[in-house]
Amino acid sequence: MLLEVKDLDVRYDRLRAVKGVDISVGEQEIVTVLGANGAGKTTLLRAIQGVVRAARGSVRFAGEDVTTADVPSRVRKGLVLVPEGRQIFVSLTVHDNLLMGAYTRRDAGLAAEIDAIYDRFPNLGQRRDMPASVLSGGEQQMLAISRALLSKPKLMMLDEPSLGLSPLYVQRMFDLIGALNRDGLSILLVEQNTSMALATAARATLLELGTAVLAGPSGEVAASERLTSAYLGAR
Ligand SMILES: Nc1ncnc2c1ncn2[C@@H]1O[C@H](COP(=O)(O)OP(=O)(O)OP(=O)(O)O)[C@@H](O)[C@H]1O
Ligand SMILES: [Mg+2]
Repeated sequence: MLLEVKDLDVRYDRLRAVKGVDISVGEQEIVTVLGANGAGKTTLLRAIQGVVRAARGSVRFAGEDVTTADVPSRVRKGLVLVPEGRQIFVSLTVHDNLLMGAYTRRDAGLAAEIDAIYDRFPNLGQRRDMPASVLSGGEQQMLAISRALLSKPKLMMLDEPSLGLSPLYVQRMFDLIGALNRDGLSILLVEQNTSMALATAARATLLELGTAVLAGPSGEVAASERLTSAYLGAR
């Protein structure tokens, strides 16, 4: 497995936001994490990236134990998080936002890769010298993913990439996830769009109040009553 998380606990003071979670992602696999608001999805991804520390358990990535590694070293190993809400720098230009994704790199291939991004997303290329605030929500999400790609990830973690996007951009987002995966990228996907996430991912884990209550092939998770009750129970 490329990513192997075992018995992970994350705490905010006395709140156990993630409790004993096991999750893995194989080479070129898409795995999705589902769950209602407050279930611990973002906390799980932040702990895997090293933004918050694990109170217990282990995170292995590409054959190494990274449980106590800092964020830049995890990024250099190929583990990258595209955070909830995109977190791009709206006052910086599109181009400078992309360059921030390359902060762990010192090689010469960067300019060509940025050109390839502008070819793939002409809306970004046409606005390269404009502040990112001119971009639509969908374009900002494409920028956030492009920025993450420049760190040359093996595994990309996406936290609710379709949130707040128009139906057209939701479809484009899932098309992009499929295309990146076919190019070899492994993906850990947190989504509120349960049906599209389950249709995209090979396996799924359902979190409820920090605990993984259901995990398995996406088809089995999709058919489970536990899935509907998890969302109903939270309302
Ligand atoms: N920085 C923080 N400090 C204290 N508590 C936090 C913090 N971040 C999250 N929490 C709490 O941890 C729990 C899990 O939150 P988290 O954001 O991981 O859930 P989520 O599944 O991503 O929810 P959403 O679907 O709303 O994004 C919640 O009870 C939340 O209130
Ligand atoms: Mg969240």
